[in-house]
Amino acid sequence: MKKILVTGGCGFIGTNFIRLLMKETDYEVTNLDALTYAGNLENLKELEGDKRYRFIKGRIEDEQVVSSIMKDMDAVVNFAAESHVDRSIKSARPFITTNVMGTQVLLDCFRQAGCKGPFVHVSTDEVYGSLGKDDPAFTERHHLRPNSPYSASKASSDLLCRAAWKTFGLPVIVTRCSNNYGPFQFPEKLIPLMIINCLEGRKLPIYGDGMNVRDWIYVEDHCRGVLAALEKGVPGAIYNLGGNCELTNLKVVETIIDMLGKTKDLIEFVADRPGHDRRYAMDIGFSQKSLSWSPKVDFEKGMEKTVNWYIENRQWWERILSGEYRSYYKNHYGSEL
Ligand code: NAD
Ligand code: DAU
Repeated sequence: MKKILVTGGCGFIGTNFIRLLMKETDYEVTNLDALTYAGNLENLKELEGDKRYRFIKGRIEDEQVVSSIMKDMDAVVNFAAESHVDRSIKSARPFITTNVMGTQVLLDCFRQAGCKGPFVHVSTDEVYGSLGKDDPAFTERHHLRPNSPYSASKASSDLLCRAAWKTFGLPVIVTRCSNNYGPFQFPEKLIPLMIINCLEGRKLPIYGDGMNVRDWIYVEDHCRGVLAALEKGVPGAIYNLGGNCELTNLKVVETIIDMLGKTKDLIEFVADRPGHDRRYAMDIGFSQKSLSWSPKVDFEKGMEKTVNWYIENRQWWERILSGEYRSYYKNHYGSEL
């Protein structure tokens, strides 16, 4: 049985990934998570007591903790990160500490422990920068031109991974994915924020003109792509993952309004995000061919599952709304939750 270290497993995608591993593989899983505002132990509560799973509270940039865990590991999947662009604009330092320093500590400890690998680093389409309306989609060979402190920190960690592969021959694989949605996503992100605000009859704040385009992928499809990279990926390779589903933010919000039987007067156009990337689009041809992977859940089906999850799991997000997020929201949007 292979032993795998999953970092950031109490966050949105990490939670979904560990659930997939426990359900469909026989990996022995160690989840290292700092339980920041975005990490929630409750997400994996039903795994407590399972012999194939253990949780360790700790930070990926803490060399002592990481080296003591790494010596027993075969493979690593690194999800741990500060992940929200708006927060990185307010304060970039935590992004450098976790995303840059943390990734380097993981790579160093992986090397020192002589792990067999692979080391899968989970990255983002945002490292490529922004596309114009008619530009072709990002391929893995597109230049890196990150525009936010978040994406700059992710691009930096991608480059550290490349350096570890090139210099030390570590079996490092980088995946880059577009915008995820689905169960357990923290409500600071567009889709859960709009679902919850709609359910509560609150305004729906859209940045700028709402015509920024994102490519949307259901989280389970992303997790299956990461698993495919772990099992079939080639060291040194980069794999783009995406949902083949480009939509404007306005279209996404209107879909949610329709699904919940609300009206468009809830929409409020607010000040734009500084440096707001206009469009992301992913060419996933290389991953489809080399990993035998493709996204399976279309936007309509994925949104139905997602909206239902937020309706059925009110307690999960109500607890978040009563914590630190409350003051973040007031400070960011200028209105009360
Ligand atoms: P998230 O913010 O929901 O979760 C991040 C998790 O990492 C949390 O559980 C948090 O407690 C943990 N964490 C933060 N700092 C840590 C540290 N120093 N040490 C250990 N744990 C720490 O993020 P997410 O949306 O699940 O994203 C996971 C990964 O996927 C990130 O690397 C992100 O860049 C990448 N990604 C996300 C998306 C998306 O749409 N959400 C798309 C592409 C790539
Ligand atoms: O593309 C992948 C990236 O997707 C990941 O790397 C990031 O971790 C993840 O947070 C996400 O980044 P975005 O900035 O694209 O996601 P967010 O949900 O914050 O915003 C999506 C779009 O919606 C973006 O164009 C900004 C807009 N937006 C967002 C919020 C929170 C609004 O119009 N209003 C809002 O209140």
